[in-house]
Amino acid sequence: MRPTITASCLFAVTVILLPRPTQSKEDANEWWKHAVFYEIYPRSFADSDDDGVGDLKGIESKLPYLRSLGVDAMWIAPCFPSPQVDFGYDVSNYEDIAPIYGTLADFDRLVSRGKQAGLGVILDFVVNHTSDHHPWFLDSRSSPDAQHRDWYVWQDGRSPRQPPNNWVSLFGGSAWMYDAQTAQYYYHYFYPQQPDLNWRNPAVEAAMLDVTRWWYRRGVVGFRLDAVDTIFESSSLTDNPVLSGLNKLGDLIELEKYNRRDPQNHKVLQRLRRVADEFGAVLIGETWTEDIQSLKQYYGDRDDELQLPMNFLFATVNRLSPPAFRAQIAAAQETGKWPVYLLGNHDMVRSYDRYGDRSHDDAIAKLMAVFYLTLRGTPILYYGDEIGMQNNDPKRREDVKDPIGFRGWPKEKGRDGERTPMQWTEAENAGFTQGRPWLPVPPSYRRHNVETESRDPASILSVYRNVIALRRSTPALHDGRYEAINKEDPHVLSYLRISGDDVVMVALNMSSTRRSMRPDFREQGLGPFRLKPLLATQGASATGSTMVLPPFSALIVHVVGNP
Ligand code: GLC
Ligand code: MG
Repeated sequence: MRPTITASCLFAVTVILLPRPTQSKEDANEWWKHAVFYEIYPRSFADSDDDGVGDLKGIESKLPYLRSLGVDAMWIAPCFPSPQVDFGYDVSNYEDIAPIYGTLADFDRLVSRGKQAGLGVILDFVVNHTSDHHPWFLDSRSSPDAQHRDWYVWQDGRSPRQPPNNWVSLFGGSAWMYDAQTAQYYYHYFYPQQPDLNWRNPAVEAAMLDVTRWWYRRGVVGFRLDAVDTIFESSSLTDNPVLSGLNKLGDLIELEKYNRRDPQNHKVLQRLRRVADEFGAVLIGETWTEDIQSLKQYYGDRDDELQLPMNFLFATVNRLSPPAFRAQIAAAQETGKWPVYLLGNHDMVRSYDRYGDRSHDDAIAKLMAVFYLTLRGTPILYYGDEIGMQNNDPKRREDVKDPIGFRGWPKEKGRDGERTPMQWTEAENAGFTQGRPWLPVPPSYRRHNVETESRDPASILSVYRNVIALRRSTPALHDGRYEAINKEDPHVLSYLRISGDDVVMVALNMSSTRRSMRPDFREQGLGPFRLKPLLATQGASATGSTMVLPPFSALIVHVVGNP
């Protein structure tokens, strides 16, 4: 093994920037493999007009920030016209921008400015349902003979005042809503204001595929596909098996055998992919699965479905357990597909709270950053995780904005807590707005904000910036293979990334005790070596071939030949 060329002097979390590794042709088509994605919840990112709700101009004003963070593409949660019952996931017009967020002209400018800054725009495509205010649904419900009647899922009741079957909505109550005008029920897996589209109807499919073309032509580089496991329901309408107990919303707990994960969903993904391929676009999927085999299916048997199905099995390990994480990474590796790692999103309690132990939260946030950003695969960041934003659940029922939080209070507080405004500065409302923010900012913003953390070379934000920069500049982290090492260690999770002669080791101390280790690479056939630190948190260090890892610290080193 030859020594690699890196600069030598190193501070706490300092990195040395090398030129980007050159990309092959194949690489260029698959830019998304080496990209870092960033999810923006547009209501909460930056408010340019001080109405308390974020907007597209706000996002545009933060392009320099996104660039300095080092991300390549932003996935913007739905910003289309919508009654905002589910904060945009109830779309009333797929081909426009909601006035609270701006105009199509603002969108076009965001796309072109983004492009200049090297940042692609990914939109969120809500495929399963529309808003009940969408003109398709308004027509559909107007009469049994309406042109769009069959665009949604209409059924007679089982008997008078009895829904067609026992299916329960994820957001509470029966998944069937009676509509007096035509005396039938329509199906809604989510809120009643989100009627499910009937994808069995070819006209629905044609219209929806056209929506994607419309946006690709406007310069969108891909879509995140919402709720892809709910597109089809069994036409038999068989009752779901009922398990024991009630869920947080007070409903029967069902095995969603007949209304979720229908094999036909894959056909829709294949068709969406064909269109995406015409435009060289990427499809990311909201792919909640029970196991890795079902996740693998979302890539398509012929790699003809999603390029980037999100791995929620990894995202929901929810404890600092090296064996549990090792198993998830190994399973993802064994699929032979390109992994997609994330820690959280707008539907999940913030990773800061899920992994924190209330006394080492910042250290743990840095550890987790080093972790998912150094794995082989594409990472997706959730806005605010890079500054250690904390969940801020509503304290009183009357403050809840997310309807499931009203319904399920106090057991289910809804998703407001993970959707609070981005914390930019130490100023009031964390500099998000001069108005009244639609959700309150937690007091911790005084410490956790972009301005303050940018000044601190050891902050969570600095760790994110430095690891992302290292991913680009270090061939092994950029596209090296993954190899687990010290597989029995219950405290320290460690692995190698290897690209030709470039060998990087990552060590993550997931315990509250100081660990030291002398890694040995005989199994990898490596001769004598020494460890050269590239990035360290919490004072982790390496001398010669020994590493010292304080509690919850992370260390990235080059493994350099020692002739
Ligand atoms: C997805 C979204 C979630 C939304 C739901 C219905 O799960 O991430 O926020 O409520 O779909 O569209
Ligand atoms: Mg605004």
